Amino acid sequence: MDKSELDAKTKCRRKFVGMAVATVLAPSLLVGCHEKEEENVSTNEDLMREHGLLKRVMLSYDEVIRRIGAELDFPPQVVSDGATIIRTFVEDYHEKLEEEHLFPRFRKAGKLVDLVDTLYAQHQAGRRVTDRILATSKSPKTREDRAHLAADLHAFNRMYAPHEAREDTILFPELHKIISSHEYDSLGEQFEKIERQTFGGDGFDIYLDKVTTLEKQLGIYDLAQFTPQ
Ligand SMILES: [Fe+2]
Ligand SMILES: [Fe+2]
Repeated sequence: MDKSELDAKTKCRRKFVGMAVATVLAPSLLVGCHEKEEENVSTNEDLMREHGLLKRVMLSYDEVIRRIGAELDFPPQVVSDGATIIRTFVEDYHEKLEEEHLFPRFRKAGKLVDLVDTLYAQHQAGRRVTDRILATSKSPKTREDRAHLAADLHAFNRMYAPHEAREDTILFPELHKIISSHEYDSLGEQFEKIERQTFGGDGFDIYLDKVTTLEKQLGIYDLAQFTPQ
């Protein structure tokens, strides 16, 4: 799907946020958008594609860990840019959605409470690791600085790979069982609204561009390079 198709879908999605808006659209436009309305981003899809962005920053972290281990250079800016994406998009937005809108619903329903407690504690631990990464990445001058940075990047990835996998496979699917389909749909709309308020537009698209830039700077953007011979 090219960018123009994506833009058209996004625009249609937004046009259908309220019926009041839909009623003023020309009938032909309504028909065109109606087909695409089926492709609305649901609550879980929204959260899971945000995990996709988290995963791509983690892959950038992996590349930096590899370079530190091999005593190769890397632009320190890439690490602080990656950690800033984690801070603003993952910790202050995505995790906030989970903490304010998902975790309380699971606690209220008495479902997966131990898992929710662990996920919440991991969000706090992740923030502490990101603080350290942001501080060290400013100027990792000595070999010791680079070793500390690699250890923190590794600690981050070691925790978040299972964290996001557990949310994708256990927590998010269970959401369908503890809330009605109506509440599930309105939660998705609420997430869309918060996203626009937080980022002044489609936060996912904005951060997808940022993550793509990181990957290009590290030479890991070309997907085909990872295909085994
Ligand atoms: Fe989480
Ligand atoms: Fe998450």
